[in-house]
Amino acid sequence: MQIAPGAFHFRGHLSLDAQRTLVAQCRALVDGAVPAYVPVVRGGGKMHVRMLCLGKHWNGKTYAYEPTRSDFDDLPAPPLPDEWKALARDLARTAGMTLEADLCILNYYGADGRMGLHQDKDESARSLAAGVPVVSISLGDTARFLFGGLRRRDVVETLPLESGDAFVFGGPARLRYHGVSRIIPGTAPPGLGLTGRFNLTFRQY
Ligand code: SIN
Ligand code: MN
Repeated sequence: MQIAPGAFHFRGHLSLDAQRTLVAQCRALVDGAVPAYVPVVRGGGKMHVRMLCLGKHWNGKTYAYEPTRSDFDDLPAPPLPDEWKALARDLARTAGMTLEADLCILNYYGADGRMGLHQDKDESARSLAAGVPVVSISLGDTARFLFGGLRRRDVVETLPLESGDAFVFGGPARLRYHGVSRIIPGTAPPGLGLTGRFNLTFRQY
């Protein structure tokens, strides 16, 4: 369903089976050879998520993308799985847009996970100008997602992102402010076996 020009919320897009498969992949990745970590950002504060970037690494100190994690352990960003790229491509197409994702930021939110209001604007000037969308997939506990306007002070809408939901924002919505004010513990589907929340955001640098 379109919630604003260029912004789409697809509720229950993924079957429980598809969610299970993704959760297993996310778990293996965040606890794998190149593990997720809690970034310290430019101002010196810690983020309230565990992050793992695939394809390209987003450096929380410089807000730039790079091949290796120079703000943490110098390990290379693991590759973005082809089937994940295909999933993001299909979702963008469902929203009437085109995305050839070359990176994904995978975040794990515990019970106290959150993310302040921000714009996704560290991708290439070309990608941003073209309005190439961000495709977001949510797994596990419900998030209270904030979706604002192009200016920080604009009115912010609150919507729940539940397990299996997808959210796509591109075109005129590409630079809209957004964030996560809180996670609602215990709301993941019982059959998923996940405490907390994974969020995947696919982007094209
Ligand atoms: C993000 O803005 O990068 C993450 C959004 C979310 O967790 O839903
Ligand atoms: Mn974002």
